[in-house]
Amino acid sequence: MTTAAGTRWRVALADNTIDQPEIDAVTEVLRSRWLSAGPVTRRFEQEFAERLGAPGAVAVSSGTAALHLATMALDLRPGDEVIVPSLSFVASAAVVALQGATPVFADVHSETDLTVDSTDVARLVTARTRAIVPMHYGGYPADLTALRATADRHGLRLVEDAAHAPAVRAGDRMVGVHGDLGCFSFFATKNLTVGEGGMVVAEDADLLERIRLSRSHSLSSSTWDRQQSAVTGYEVSGIGLNYRPTEVSSALGRVQLTRLADDRARRRALVAIYHHQLREVPGLTIPFLGRSGDTAHHLMAVVLPRQVDREAVRTALAAAGVQTSVHYPPTHLFSFYRRRFPGARRPLPVTESVAPRLLSLPLHSRMSDRDATLVAQTLARTLTGTSHLTKGAQR
Ligand SMILES: Cc1ncc(COP(=O)(O)O)c(C=O)c1O
Repeated sequence: MTTAAGTRWRVALADNTIDQPEIDAVTEVLRSRWLSAGPVTRRFEQEFAERLGAPGAVAVSSGTAALHLATMALDLRPGDEVIVPSLSFVASAAVVALQGATPVFADVHSETDLTVDSTDVARLVTARTRAIVPMHYGGYPADLTALRATADRHGLRLVEDAAHAPAVRAGDRMVGVHGDLGCFSFFATKNLTVGEGGMVVAEDADLLERIRLSRSHSLSSSTWDRQQSAVTGYEVSGIGLNYRPTEVSSALGRVQLTRLADDRARRRALVAIYHHQLREVPGLTIPFLGRSGDTAHHLMAVVLPRQVDREAVRTALAAAGVQTSVHYPPTHLFSFYRRRFPGARRPLPVTESVAPRLLSLPLHSRMSDRDATLVAQTLARTLTGTSHLTKGAQR
């Protein structure tokens, strides 16, 4: 049984592998005494871009920063609309709202495919739409062919929220490179983690250069440049922020990138155990089961039977030392979005049916086969008992 660092759980929802190579890489940075974005960050960007087959990448301080800079590069104005899935982390809608534009919430395909419904997206396009921001739920690519076609037909930008899907192939290229812009998160629970960090990739060199500038106040030279060369001052060409990563996080990122393939293989094996143990449980839906193609296996989400009280199930799993989570409470149902954006009250039938029943089970490469079996069997046992049933559904 593996216990995740800093947690009380027998089987934690997420964990990471930080070992001697990470410690050595960070130590080297500390010894160099240059800690803010500099040469290590450049190398991380180059290696990440190479891994994705992207012409370039800009490392930033979080996935939210990546989404913020990517959408800032679209010059959104009040009244502009950006289509986002409601079943996502709130960050993608928040960065749109922050810029005075309107997030328009799309439904997901179905209980078995939790990526944004490309038909619903196409229906939601208006004269005010500027961009579509799909999210690759759990590492499973959204329907990028259909979304790209809708974006091209209407002259919209496609900004991929690829927080769950580093180095995942979808058709002829990687996730993040289908869109005009691809945004990644390296948060503590992600497959590739640096603690807090993110990355933006883009095909268009000018767009990427704008993002590189706006990451650091749109200054014409960085402190590192001034440290290294005869450049002494700077000009400011636009609005920018400080979303720079540190050399420490970039050093971690470079090592973590080399771990992705092994990490994925281990996750795939664990998911196979979950599928084997859970596929016959009556009423339980396993999204993406049997789906072919590449995935990051970032999440192990299940959809509970309709009559089940999710909190009771979570409590039973917690009692067995198993941490669970919910990805995600739908954004269009949050009070802020309902109040601020009347369009957020449009019903999203699939999202609203699935979201209250979603449950994410532990999935990370430090888990043993026994961990996955314990989680799956505890869940199966709980669901075949009766104490989890909601009042009124008890028979
Ligand atoms: C789908 C999605 N989008 C955006 C983010 C934001 O990334 P970060 O937490 O690195 O700001 C996350 C991660 O939390 C995410 O899961």
